[in-house]
Formats: sequence, C-alpha cells, structure tokens
Amino acid sequence: MTRTPLIAGNWKMYKTERQAEEYIQALLPRVSAVNGVDVAICVPFTDLRAMVDSARGSRVEVYAQNMHHEPEGPFTGEVSAPMLSELDVRGVVLGHSERRALFGETDKALALKVPVALAAGMVPILCVGETEEERDGDETDRKLRQQIRDDLAAVPGERLADVVIAYEPIWAIGTGRVASPEQAQEAIAFIRALVGDRDSEAAQGTRILYGGSVKPDNAAELLALADVDGALVGGASLQAESFAQIVAAATP
Ligand code: PGA
Repeated sequence: MTRTPLIAGNWKMYKTERQAEEYIQALLPRVSAVNGVDVAICVPFTDLRAMVDSARGSRVEVYAQNMHHEPEGPFTGEVSAPMLSELDVRGVVLGHSERRALFGETDKALALKVPVALAAGMVPILCVGETEEERDGDETDRKLRQQIRDDLAAVPGERLADVVIAYEPIWAIGTGRVASPEQAQEAIAFIRALVGDRDSEAAQGTRILYGGSVKPDNAAELLALADVDGALVGGASLQAESFAQIVAAATP
C-alpha cells in the first residue's frame, strides 16, 4: 500500500495573524508545484480563520494544535471539534509532548479526543515519544506501547488508518539533537507493528511521521526511511523557505 507522505509544520505559540499572512503568501508559491506530498500547517487558534481563507484552493491544509473532546460546555479556554471543523480546519495535533508535560494532557483525555476528531472529519496527528531517561533506561518500547494502546483505545479498527501518528522523541524536540536514522526507523517500525497488533491492514495504511529537530539538511535522509511517512516540523517550519525545502525533500 502506498502512503502519501505528510509534512506538517507545528508553529507552536508563534505568529500573530499578520505574521501568519506574510508567511502563507511566501509559502504558497514555494509549494505550488509540489506533487505527491500532503502539506499542513498547525497554527494557533487565532490564526486559523485567516490561514484557511488564504490557503483555500492550494495544497496547504490548515490544522489546529489542540482540541477539547466535548462539543461544547463549561470549559473555559478550550476549543471544540465543531468549532474547528466549521472553520474548515482539516486536522489537529493531539498529545504533543509540550501539552502533556506543561498542560497536563493525559492519555485518558487523548483516548476521548482522537475519535472525536475523526468523527468531525479531521485528521488527528497523535504525538507519542519517550523522554531521554526512558531511552537510556531501555523503556522506549514500553512507553510507545502504552501510549499507542491507551490513546487509540476507542478508535475502531476501520478508522485506525485515518489517524496520523507522530513519533517525537522528547529529547530531540527543539534541541537540535535529531534521532539517528536507525533510531527513527526502529521506533517507527515498532509503532507500525503495534498498530498491526490491532489491525494488520490498517498498519499498512497508517502514516507515521518523525518529529524532533527536522531541518532542511537532515530531512531527506529521515524521509527516505522505509517506515517514515513524513515529518512533524517545529522550529524549521517557522520560515517559509526552510519549510518548503523540507516539503521538497519529501517529494517522491
Ligand atoms: P522541533 O519541534 O522541530 O523544533 O524539534 C518538533 C515538534 O515539537 O513537533
């Protein structure tokens, strides 16, 4: 089964609406000729409407960075799936390690959020990955097994392949310390096998991205790995030029 690569830029808490507008005008011409790769930018809530409008008709899709599982309710500061999908937001990052570590995102909450995003017609990018301590203690497989089991528990087998999984070793995020190709391939093949334990056909269709210090100069090597179906790019997605170079590196 062929899996279309996905390059997703995770802006995190960067860019006002005005800065976002400048960025998208610089990005669109740089990716307009690209074929065979899906491109998404995951932007702050305040940038969503402007980015969806500016990217309409282009190959760039606009995703959010978080979402509550309830459609509405007394949840101050939160945003729901219907609020996002009405804006034509096509996907959402769920369980980024920064949300897990800094904002108390739990596997229990993620188990609720992932199916809600799917039901709303959005692509969830579920982030998983181990800390440096867990890697040093040979705990990587245990951590990944637990996260994949818990976070996807409520996703039916026939929808599993619609979830994008991002393997992001926490020690590689924002550090400039990218995983080696061997480490990335091994962990991502392991994640694919875990999905395969649930549904072997889904595992062949599930896109699994690598994230953590992906840059224009290391992207091609990572993206060429057998099980790596794209990248979740933080810092290097903030400039249209470097993000477009990573998109180009994913072009088959
Ligand atoms: P980075 O971030 O590319 O800046 O390491 C990746 C991420 O947090 O998704």
